[in-house]
Amino acid sequence: MNHNDRVLDPAKMPAHIAIIMDGNGRWAQKQGHERTFGHQNGVEAVRSVIEGAGEMGVRYLTLYAFSTENWNRPKEEVEMLMGLLVKSIHNELDKLMKNQVRLMMTGRMEDLPESCRAALQEAIDRTAANKGLTVVLALSYSGRAEIVDMARNIARQAAAGTLAPEQITPETVQQHLYHGDIPDPDILIRTGGDFRISNFLLWECAYTEFFFVPTMWPDFRKTDLREIVLDFQCRERRYGKTGEQVREQ
Ligand code: FPP
Repeated sequence: MNHNDRVLDPAKMPAHIAIIMDGNGRWAQKQGHERTFGHQNGVEAVRSVIEGAGEMGVRYLTLYAFSTENWNRPKEEVEMLMGLLVKSIHNELDKLMKNQVRLMMTGRMEDLPESCRAALQEAIDRTAANKGLTVVLALSYSGRAEIVDMARNIARQAAAGTLAPEQITPETVQQHLYHGDIPDPDILIRTGGDFRISNFLLWECAYTEFFFVPTMWPDFRKTDLREIVLDFQCRERRYGKTGEQVREQ
C-alpha cells in the first residue's frame, strides 16, 4: 500500500494531542530574518493544525505557545509574541466560532499583560459553548509551576482540616491541576529536532506517546499531523502490562 493511502482508524483516534511548537527562531534566522519573522509564520502552522485536528475529530489540542521560562527572552521578542497572540485571536475568532472551536488557556494567566488577558478572556467566553475541538493555549505555563500550584491548593485544604494527607491519591492530584477534567494527552509532538519535554505537561504525560520531528514549526502542516496520528495508531500502548495481556483485552 502506498504510504499516502493509509487510512485513519476511527476506533483509535487520539482524544488529546499536545504540541511543543519549536523551531520558529531557527527557521527565520536560516533565511536571514529576525527570529520574530518565524513566530509570524508559525501562526499559519497553528491555523493548519487546528483545522486538521478538527477534521480528524480530535477532542483536545494543547499548544505550548509561551513557557514561564520564555519571559527571560529579549524584551522585544516577548512583546512581539504577546502582540501576535492578541492579533491572532482577533483575526481568528470568527473562524473559531464558525468551526465550533472552543478556546481555553492553561498556565498562570495573571502573568500576562492586561491587553493579552482581556483578548484571551473575551475569546474564551465567546467560544465557551462551542461543541467541536477544544484548543488549549499554554501561556506562561510550565509543568513544574502547575505541580507547585496543585500542591499549594492541596496543602491549603490539608491545613484547613478538610483533607487528610492519607486521602490524597493520584485522582486528588489530577483534580487539582489547572484542568483536571481534560484527558491526558495521547500524543505529544515536538517539532524543531530536539528531544526533550522542556517542562511541558509533566504529570499529564505519564503514558503519552512521544513524537519528535525535525520539521521546524513554521513548516508544520495538518498533513504532518495526520502522518503522526497514523503512526500513533500502529503503536501498542501497554500501560505497564505485557503485550499479551494488552492484546487479550
Ligand atoms: C518556539 O520557537 C516558539 C515559541 C516560543 C512561540 C510559539 C508561538 C507561535 C507559533 C505563534 C503564536 C501562537 C499562537 C497560538 C497564535 P523558538 O523561538 O524557541 O525557536 P528556536 O528553537 O528555533 O529558537
